[in-house]
Amino acid sequence: MTEPRKVLICDTTMRDGHQSLLATRMRTEHMLPIAEKVEQVGFYSIEIWGGATFDTCMRFCNEDPWERLRAARKHFKNSKLQMLLRGQNVVGYKHYADDVLEEFIKRTVDNGLDIFRIFDALNDTRNMEKAIEYVKREGAHAQGTVVYTISPVHDYDFYMRMGAELKEMGVDSLCLKDMAGILAPMPAYEIIKGWKENLGLMVQLHCHYTSGMASMTYLKAVEAGVDVLDCAVSSMALQSSQPATESMVAALKDTPYDTGLDLGLLSEISQYFREVRANYAEFDNASCSPDTNVLTYQIPGGMISNFIAQLKEQNALHKLPEVLAEVPRVREDFGYPPLVTPSSQIVGAQAALNVVLGQRYMIATDEVKNYMRGYYGRPPAPVNEEVRKKIIGDEKPIDCRPADLIEPELPKAREACEPYKRQEEDVVSMAIFPQVAKAFFEARNGKE
Ligand code: CO
Repeated sequence: MTEPRKVLICDTTMRDGHQSLLATRMRTEHMLPIAEKVEQVGFYSIEIWGGATFDTCMRFCNEDPWERLRAARKHFKNSKLQMLLRGQNVVGYKHYADDVLEEFIKRTVDNGLDIFRIFDALNDTRNMEKAIEYVKREGAHAQGTVVYTISPVHDYDFYMRMGAELKEMGVDSLCLKDMAGILAPMPAYEIIKGWKENLGLMVQLHCHYTSGMASMTYLKAVEAGVDVLDCAVSSMALQSSQPATESMVAALKDTPYDTGLDLGLLSEISQYFREVRANYAEFDNASCSPDTNVLTYQIPGGMISNFIAQLKEQNALHKLPEVLAEVPRVREDFGYPPLVTPSSQIVGAQAALNVVLGQRYMIATDEVKNYMRGYYGRPPAPVNEEVRKKIIGDEKPIDCRPADLIEPELPKAREACEPYKRQEEDVVSMAIFPQVAKAFFEARNGKE
């Protein structure tokens, strides 16, 4: 039995909370006024950057993501700031060259970020190695992430192996990331206990409440010796977001795992965000019951709403059940990728095509072709060869690290950025999202 110890909490309200519930629309102006109170709580860390927020800042909120990071650093003086980094995909949806990743990490550390949670959608550690190396070199905390999924190849030994591999690569801590909300209490217990006993690293658990299991899973993780739990304050918790901070704090109170956090203070913060949330009603995807489709099909909530929009457009909404059933079959053909950005979009779009066209793989998206070519990395299990042949014929897939084939991208971005540049960080934004950044710069500079 692992020695009981105080459990730490990471607050995700200002990143994953609003990414999951409010289509990532929360603006910086709604985060800063409560910063001082949030700091008083004594969270282990505050997740406030990365994931989809970088893109949506510029695309929808008319905000500079770097400005948000600097403002957060200024207001959260004594807290560790945390972000979600998609490995070689940085904060985008495809692989970028190493020079872009390196510059992104350098600028991010310079602007005050402390903890980088680094993952790869296929759990291909080759797509994480440069990110880990650069984060370490900048003196920041590199958290190696294992994306949780269920398949015949994702067994206990897989999780132990990947955890050990990440430790070998020099990570400072491990994260078990359950983006779909499918991690049941018992497997969580086994994996975390295995990691704690064999690797001796700090372990952070990230679950989504989607299927209604996450708070049970957290309790078993606590018993297994987890160090940090990701939670959002109650008004921004549950559904497709994280378990509620206050509930976890109360559940562990007066036990050897007591978080020591103040429920009164948390409830003031929650009340604040309840009012903030009302500003984003048009984006709010709250539903009052758990989404159990995710348990049957492993399809996260966001993906289902994409399907509905996509099928409606083609007057084929009645085919939704067929599409849902097609997803696990495509996933099997693809070698069981976890369904997380960008693999969830890749698998989802192909499943919809297969059903709408009435013939499987008659047409494949460019992303699917590139997936089959190995440009996203190594799938967890071999892909279905027959399907691969249908999609890319006799083309031979690559077997190196995909980014090894990408020429440096910063010089071109620097050139494209020249007419708009106000800060060095603009070059990085341009390299990652050329069109979105350009439109954002034009609007921003026009205002000046
Ligand atoms: Co998440």
